[in-house]
Amino acid sequence: MFNYFNPTAICFGRGQFDSAHRRGELKGAEKVLLVTDGTAMRRFGYSDRLKENLSHCEVVEYDSVPANPDFECVRQGIDLARREGITVVVALGGGSSMDAGKAIAFLSPQSASLDDYLAGGAVGASVDRLGFVAIPTTSGTGSEVTPWASIWDRDKRKKYSLADERMFPDCAIVDPSLTLSLPPEITAATGLDALCHAVEAYWSLNSQPVSDFLAAGAIELVGNHLVGAYRDGDNIEHRDGMSLASLLAGLAFSNTKTTACHSISYPLTARFDIPHGIACALTLGAMLAFNGEALGARGDRLAGFLGCDDIESAVSSIGELLEKLNVSPRLRDYGIDKQDIDAILDDGFTPDRIGHNPRTITRGEMQSILEALH
Ligand SMILES: [Fe+2]
Repeated sequence: MFNYFNPTAICFGRGQFDSAHRRGELKGAEKVLLVTDGTAMRRFGYSDRLKENLSHCEVVEYDSVPANPDFECVRQGIDLARREGITVVVALGGGSSMDAGKAIAFLSPQSASLDDYLAGGAVGASVDRLGFVAIPTTSGTGSEVTPWASIWDRDKRKKYSLADERMFPDCAIVDPSLTLSLPPEITAATGLDALCHAVEAYWSLNSQPVSDFLAAGAIELVGNHLVGAYRDGDNIEHRDGMSLASLLAGLAFSNTKTTACHSISYPLTARFDIPHGIACALTLGAMLAFNGEALGARGDRLAGFLGCDDIESAVSSIGELLEKLNVSPRLRDYGIDKQDIDAILDDGFTPDRIGHNPRTITRGEMQSILEALH
């Protein structure tokens, strides 16, 4: 017996971006808030293209989302949405813009503030959110089909999760041609995030047949396309493959949640500014080795999705992938000292995510893994 739930409508393929006005809540919208990170979206002309496309409605732009959206940006976006009488939020960008847009769409109609919500989830259950459409310009986060938003407290260097079924986007417009402009290092980091979502979804204690098929498809697509997209960013077939991989992985972990790799990644990003996907991938091989014996036949299948015969060679293949993407596997190369590991564990060894790991892991075992990676 299993349950799978995902209400987001998906519009996938090259050219979907220019049909945005006909998609989801954007069709017939009156006043739209466009949420972006500003510079990159303007540089590529994507914001202007979308505004032209949405000529049937009024578009207000909020273009100040930082990498890893913080409380301040969400508060500003909520104030703007309330002041302008926005009915639909469209987020255009990577995970940061989508998470910020999602939080703004969800919290704008609520009487509770962001701080109230994070303190205790004080949101009226009967109040709907604004319409929300997500348009990813990277291939990795999967935020366009998940019900969560990561919001970061810069002062405390901590990450918070907003989680609510009402935060699933109404519509995800996934146009691989938007990712042609991604630089190689972002292609690598976001692609590794997709791989971690898929692998963690597959081995999660919450896995089930639907998420398994989605995860398997995503892992194979990453194997076929990530290095190609990294080396030849203009290759649209590789971009198609990675956009689909990211989407499938997002659909998989939207129901399983993530596990140890993501859990321990958050302080690596918050304290040492390691890009999210790389922070997750640093422990992926070691966690695959650790989880291997608990996975049994599923471990062999997982190795097969990674193009390998057994767990041992799958672990090696993840190391080789990092090498091909010029990603160092060593914590010390990111400015982390051995004495920092205790604080990383304090913030990253969190029961809600660690608890989904297929093999019980103690803080001491995670400490040994991090020390070996140092
Ligand atoms: Fe992630």
